[in-house]
Amino acid sequence: MQIFLDTANLEHIRHGVDLGVISGVTTNPSLVSKEGKVDYKALVKEICAIVPGPVSTEVLSQESAGMIAEAREITTWAENIAVKIPSTLEGLEATSVLARENVRVNVTLCFSLNQAMLAAAAGAAFVSPFVGRLDDIGEEGMQLVVDIVDYLRYYDLPTRVIAASIRHTSHCLSASKAGAHIATVPYKVLLQMIEHPLTDAGVRRFADDWNKVMGDSGILP
Ligand code: E4P
Repeated sequence: MQIFLDTANLEHIRHGVDLGVISGVTTNPSLVSKEGKVDYKALVKEICAIVPGPVSTEVLSQESAGMIAEAREITTWAENIAVKIPSTLEGLEATSVLARENVRVNVTLCFSLNQAMLAAAAGAAFVSPFVGRLDDIGEEGMQLVVDIVDYLRYYDLPTRVIAASIRHTSHCLSASKAGAHIATVPYKVLLQMIEHPLTDAGVRRFADDWNKVMGDSGILP
């Protein structure tokens, strides 16, 4: 499973890329707003220059014609752009048009298998089931990831599943077990994924044991 970062924060994206584990980025209007009043195009272009993979950039229009026009503009900003289109009726029409133009569409705000089936039929490159927001309303968000992955596999469809709205590290585990192609994770969750108290205790114990016998002599002269 690939890991994407779910953020528009340049510092966090740079750190994730430097760690060598980030294959893409997803943004949305709320995440961009967190960065203050920015030049959207300049910010997206900078993210695209840093990230070695798709950068999902969301449209703001709610009508298909506006979505299509925005998507055509956004795709000129960088080669690794994927355009995020919501799972609405208007979004479905826009996805079909854009997919025929070879635009990589990430169908977002997906909350049902029916929506995912239509996204795949329209030619979406990615579909993003929002796990955490389904959990928030008392549903089993990860079950939707399981169902979409099964459906796409059964019919051998090329749409890739991005497990989105990830809230904690066990969501990452469950997404990988479900066969999601990608999990897009907040920076905080990325940092939590590497943490384990036994690793920290182990590092400390190795250093203490070495120092007791070898003093401060290291490996390098
Ligand atoms: C995905 O592409 C979205 O940007 C994101 O995962 C939404 O997560 P949230 O429910 O935490 O806002």
